[in-house]
Amino acid sequence: MIIAVLHPSVTRSRKSLVLVISSMLVNPGFAGAQSDPGPRGGGAAAGGQIGGLTSAQVQAFLDGQARFNEVENVSNGLGPRFNSNQCASCHSFPAEGGTSPASNPQTQFANSRNALPSFIQPNGPVREARFIHNPDGSPDGGVHALFVVTGRSDGPSGCNINQEDFSNAGNLSLRIPTPVFGLGLIEAIPDAYLINNMTNTSGPRANLGIAGRFNRGGNDGTITRFGWKAQNKSLDIFSGEAYNVEMGITNLLFPNERGVDSMNDQTNCNPFAAPNDTDNLGSAGTAEFDDVSMFAAFMRFLAPPAPGPSSNSVVNGSNVFTNIGCALCHTVALQTGPNQVAALSNQTINAYSDFALHHMGSNLADQISQGVAQGDEFRSAPLWGLGQRLFLLHDGRTSDLVQAILAHSSSGSEANQVIDNYNSLNHHDKQDLLNFLRSL
Ligand code: HEC
Ligand code: HEC
Repeated sequence: MIIAVLHPSVTRSRKSLVLVISSMLVNPGFAGAQSDPGPRGGGAAAGGQIGGLTSAQVQAFLDGQARFNEVENVSNGLGPRFNSNQCASCHSFPAEGGTSPASNPQTQFANSRNALPSFIQPNGPVREARFIHNPDGSPDGGVHALFVVTGRSDGPSGCNINQEDFSNAGNLSLRIPTPVFGLGLIEAIPDAYLINNMTNTSGPRANLGIAGRFNRGGNDGTITRFGWKAQNKSLDIFSGEAYNVEMGITNLLFPNERGVDSMNDQTNCNPFAAPNDTDNLGSAGTAEFDDVSMFAAFMRFLAPPAPGPSSNSVVNGSNVFTNIGCALCHTVALQTGPNQVAALSNQTINAYSDFALHHMGSNLADQISQGVAQGDEFRSAPLWGLGQRLFLLHDGRTSDLVQAILAHSSSGSEANQVIDNYNSLNHHDKQDLLNFLRSL
C-alpha cells in the first residue's frame, strides 16, 4: 500500500488529486478504477473447422475457405461498385472468418477516382455505409458501396462511373463486419428452441424492463438471425448478398448488378455475362458448386471461438454477468436441433445471444429499418469470441468494453435497468465481469 505524504506547499487542487489517487490504492471499492484488460493474446482461438466432420465435409470446408480467401478483380466480376475485393479482407481477425483487423484493408482502394471517406481510417475498423434517407427525404436504408472500378488499372475501358458522395455525415449509418465463426450452429437452432428460451425468461425479463422480439423479415416468415439486426435467414443468403453488395459479384441468389442504373454504365462498366458466379455444370459427373454455396459451407463448418483460460475472477465475472441481467439478452446456452450434419446436431452452444431484437435507445439507434427491426432495434450481439475483438458495437465506435457496456444505456433502451445494476457493482465485481468478457 502506498501512503501519500502531502508536502504543505502543494496547492489545494493537487492535494485533492493525490487524495483521489491514494483512495484508489487504498479503497478496493473505488468506482473509477476498473478497466478493460484488452484483447486476449496467445494466438487465434478460432478459425479451424468444427470437430466431427466427415472427410467430404472437411473437403468442402477447405474448398470454401480457399474461395473465401480469393482476391477478386474486375475480370472476375468485381464491381462496378464495391466495398472490398475478398471476403477474408473484412472477415480476417483474429483468423479468417473473424471481423475487422487492426489495420483497415479498405485504404488500398484509394486512387485518382476513389477518395477515402472520413470514416475509413488506416487504423480504424472496416466499415460499410448505409444512407438513412434518399435525396427526396424518403427512407433509404440500403448499403452504398464506397468504391468504383473507375481509376483501377483493371477497370473496363470506356467506364466512367463516379464514386458516391459520403460527406453528409448526418445521413450516414455505419456498420462493421460481424464474425462468422460457429454460424452453422446458429443456423441449426430450431425456431421453437429460440421461442422457448424467450418464454422461459419472460418473468425475469419483465422485472428488468426487457422485452425482445424476433425478426421475421425473410421470405418464409421463420425467424431470421444473421446480421446486426437479425435481418438475414441463412448462410447461403448472406453469402449471396455479401458477394453482390460488398464485392459487386452477381450470383445465383442475387443475379442483378447493383448501382448500375444507366444504359451507359450497364454497357461500359458491366461488360460481363450475368451472373458473374454460377454453378459450373461441366460434362456429366463433373459439376462444380458456385462460390456462394462454398462460402456458406466454409462458414457452416467453422468452429465457434474457444474461450480462454478460466480463473477465480473469470468464474465470479460469469456469475455477475448472469446475476445483474446481462444473460437475459446474451443467453448463455442454447441447443441445436437434429441436423443432417452430425457435427451440428443436438449441440449445446454458448453464443451469448437470444437472437432476438431489443430496443437499445437513442444512443445506439441507427435509424435503419430491416424486416421488423426498427431504427433502435438490434440483435443481442453474440459475445463468443469477444476476448479477441478489436472493435465493438455495430458501428465500431469503441474498442473499450467499458464504453460498449455504458453505451447500452440511453433513453428508450431495454438494457437501462441492467446497466444501473452494472453501475452499482463494486470495483472487484466490475473488474471480474470485464475479465470474464475477455475470456470469451
Ligand atoms: C467490405 C467488407 C465486407 C466484405 C468484403 C464481406 N463482408 Fe460479410 N459482413 C460485413 C459487414 C459490415 C457485416 C454486417 C452486416 C450487417 O449486419 O448489416 C457482415 C456480415 C456477414 C455475415 C453475418 C454474420 C452474422 O451472424 O452476423 C456473414 C455470414 C457474412 N458477412 C459473410 C460474408 C461472405 C461470405 C463474404 C464474401 C462473399 C463477405 N461476408 C464479405 C462486411 C463484409
Ligand atoms: C436488452 C438486451 C441487452 C442487455 C440487457 C445487455 N445487452 Fe449487450 N448488447 C445488446 C445488443 C442489442 C447489442 C448490440 C448493440 C449495438 O451494436 O448497437 C449488445 C452489444 C454488447 C457488446 C458489444 C458486442 C459486439 O459485438 O460489439 C458487449 C460487450 C455487450 N453487449 C455486453 C453486455 C453486458 C456485459 C451486459 C450486462 C451489463 C449487457 N451486454 C446487457 C443487448 C443487451
